[in-house]
Amino acid sequence: MLDRGEIPRVNQLLRAWTKNGQPLPAGLPSELRDFMEHARRLPSWTDHDKLAAAVKFNQKRGTYLGVLYGFASGMMSTVIPREARAVYYSQGGADMKDRITKTAKLGYDIGSLNAYQPDGEMIVTCLKTRLAHASVRHILPRSPWWSHVASEEIPISQADIMVTWHSLPTTVMRNLKKWNVPTAADESAGFLHSWQVTAHMLGVQDQYIPKSWNAADAQARQVLDPILAPTTEGIKLSDILLDLGMNLDLTLMSRPVLGAITRFMLGDKIADWLHIPREPVWGPLLETAWGPYVAVREGLLNVGMPREAYWLFDEFLRQFVLFYMSELRMPINITIPAANNPH
Ligand code: HEM
Repeated sequence: MLDRGEIPRVNQLLRAWTKNGQPLPAGLPSELRDFMEHARRLPSWTDHDKLAAAVKFNQKRGTYLGVLYGFASGMMSTVIPREARAVYYSQGGADMKDRITKTAKLGYDIGSLNAYQPDGEMIVTCLKTRLAHASVRHILPRSPWWSHVASEEIPISQADIMVTWHSLPTTVMRNLKKWNVPTAADESAGFLHSWQVTAHMLGVQDQYIPKSWNAADAQARQVLDPILAPTTEGIKLSDILLDLGMNLDLTLMSRPVLGAITRFMLGDKIADWLHIPREPVWGPLLETAWGPYVAVREGLLNVGMPREAYWLFDEFLRQFVLFYMSELRMPINITIPAANNPH
């Protein structure tokens, strides 16, 4: 389709396709329509009870999830070399704000009440993402900048997708555990299931999708932890990300605070790779008071927390939600890129 110059027309047709249960628009190239009719079907192992538990989890833990997707997963993507380079040299790299908004849509859709129901949007979001990835596989190898530095001939393999997948649910769960956030067993299983379905809908073969949290942890130790590394492209991307809150009227969305949160969540090694400076107030405050803050918030502790620190963290979470919502202006439409970053 790219070579036939059909992408702009396909994007135009798909713009109005937004709901899982909606018929595909008329006029799509027939091979695309056939592929999408096939790819839009949920896997036979989809468990709607588990997906309902995932929604409960997202409702209860939405505040932490937003921050974790943003700082733990989002910033981690800049130290996944293959992802950082693909993002930097593809069209999306030229407008990171727009890209982040679209990626946030996936995080938002997956947690929504009707994510995989006919009136939800997650199947559509996954399929449009799958098409965007397919296009990147075709055009990114034509970028001389990307080809020069890439460690693979075609980007976004099944293995690459699973690496990025672990920067999402596995990393989120690791942090929730570290913070001692209580999680009901059925909700934790539901959260995993919603991401298993997502991996399938993004085109990952079932044989590569972890079947349990133990399997996910083991796979992450094998494929994610050892490959994290700084790259020129990732350092530039993280620099752009830390400035995204700049023009908003939200004092705590400043670069130093966002840097301190990143350092706290991803650790000193990764923060140093990304040249994120240490922050004298927020750094120590997070180290000493975030744990107690979570415990108080969860009703597990009611003493030992300075009121000012509690207020500050509350205010940070509140501003983050505003920041997130201001970026997530609906409707957001994921499109198939037909060119690379002009660089
Ligand atoms: C596009 C999610 C894996 C590279 C997108 C988009 C989403 C997304 C929502 C559409 C956003 C947009 O149009 O800007 C995901 C998820 C993944 C995953 C949930 C894994 C679970 C990967 C991997 C790579 C990658 C492994 C590279 C190694 C890209 C690129 C684009 C893209 C280059 C296109 C940006 C453009 O518009 O030029 N992805 N992705 N993704 N993704 Fe992924």
